[in-house]
Amino acid sequence: MLFGRRIWKHLQPAEKDSLFGVKEEFRKSAAKNKLSLALGEYHTEEGRPFVLSCVKKAEKTLLEEETNKSYSPISGDASFLSLSTKLTFGGSAKNAVAFQTPGGTGALRLGGELLRKFHPQAAIYASDPTWPVHGKIFAACGFAPNSYRYLDSDKNAFSFAHMAADLEEIPDGSVVLLHACAHNPTGFDPTREEWRALEEIISRKSHVPFFDMAYQGLSSGDFDADAFPVRYFAEKKNPLLVAKSFSKNMGLYGERLGTLEILCSEDETDTVRAWGEEIARKTYSNPPIHGARIARRILETLEAEWKKEVEEMSDRLRGKRKALRESLDRLSGSSHDWSYIEKQTGMFCHTGLSRRQVDLLREKHAIFLPVSGRVCIAALPEKDIARVAAGLADVADICAGL
Ligand SMILES: Cc1ncc(COP(=O)(O)O)c(C=O)c1O
Repeated sequence: MLFGRRIWKHLQPAEKDSLFGVKEEFRKSAAKNKLSLALGEYHTEEGRPFVLSCVKKAEKTLLEEETNKSYSPISGDASFLSLSTKLTFGGSAKNAVAFQTPGGTGALRLGGELLRKFHPQAAIYASDPTWPVHGKIFAACGFAPNSYRYLDSDKNAFSFAHMAADLEEIPDGSVVLLHACAHNPTGFDPTREEWRALEEIISRKSHVPFFDMAYQGLSSGDFDADAFPVRYFAEKKNPLLVAKSFSKNMGLYGERLGTLEILCSEDETDTVRAWGEEIARKTYSNPPIHGARIARRILETLEAEWKKEVEEMSDRLRGKRKALRESLDRLSGSSHDWSYIEKQTGMFCHTGLSRRQVDLLREKHAIFLPVSGRVCIAALPEKDIARVAAGLADVADICAGL
């Protein structure tokens, strides 16, 4: 059959990405005073993206000293990778195979492809809710969507009981996707004691932990504390995968810098490396160099300064949570419990708003959120906190009265 001239005419439009889709609708909206808190980016008080000062410094030296724009090795910059695994595991990790990837998304995809290739019968379970792209990435690798419960939605709180019960229930040898810190979208993380109990279940049931660590440093302000679950699972000798992103904690969003770090047995490392490179070669060939060179320079010479900046960012997020909660308490009195906002951590606040409330917030207050009702605290300027609180309190009241 010949194609003819219009070769795409049978296609239906693909579903818009739930987060970038809101960005597009926001751009088109004619509403005055519009505010988007949808996308996960850290903004200044003026509501603009910014570049960390350590990144600027590293780029300046690169500009002067960089002598080539050659292809990177398929697995990425070896020195950067060794520094990155140190940041993850707190020291040099024996039997860690690391790949530099295009962002955390690329790391998740590469990990998913490796798992699918070698464990095609395995099932992968993600928290419900989770970052909406997880499902798409693992579906693209050939995995069916599966989830474990994460929230006690009546209380808008993390439910260890639900999560533990589901991890007991699912078939032995499942892959379990875990958010290492600053769970997206809920902002609720298990306590250390709960992580220890989860590790016991996961290891007893021979599940494979696949950590997504997109926010190291931004949860508590301390890189070591945020990596606790990964390091604890590693100490207990679990084979594991970690997909990391430098988009948020170095603000390198568009540079596309992530890593996939796999802990395996010594006799498996060469095979894992070879197959990871084989998949990378036919997917993106080799990762972008610029972000990795920036990160390497920072980790080699500006690490303390970077960690200080991230600590300040994390403090600022906590300050905004407090201010938002106080503002909401003043507006709602005792009619609504907003205390969960301060129990959450990281860049997001899971409001538990329904689809209808999210629509109302946009129609009445020109505040744009994704359908999940997640608020990006990191993009909320202080001057707009009172206004956002008024909008949230309003839609919470309207729907309570229905
Ligand atoms: C939980 C989680 N994982 C992975 C990613 C992907 O990160 P990147 O933008 O580096 O691909 C994000 C980005 O928002 C995220 O929130």
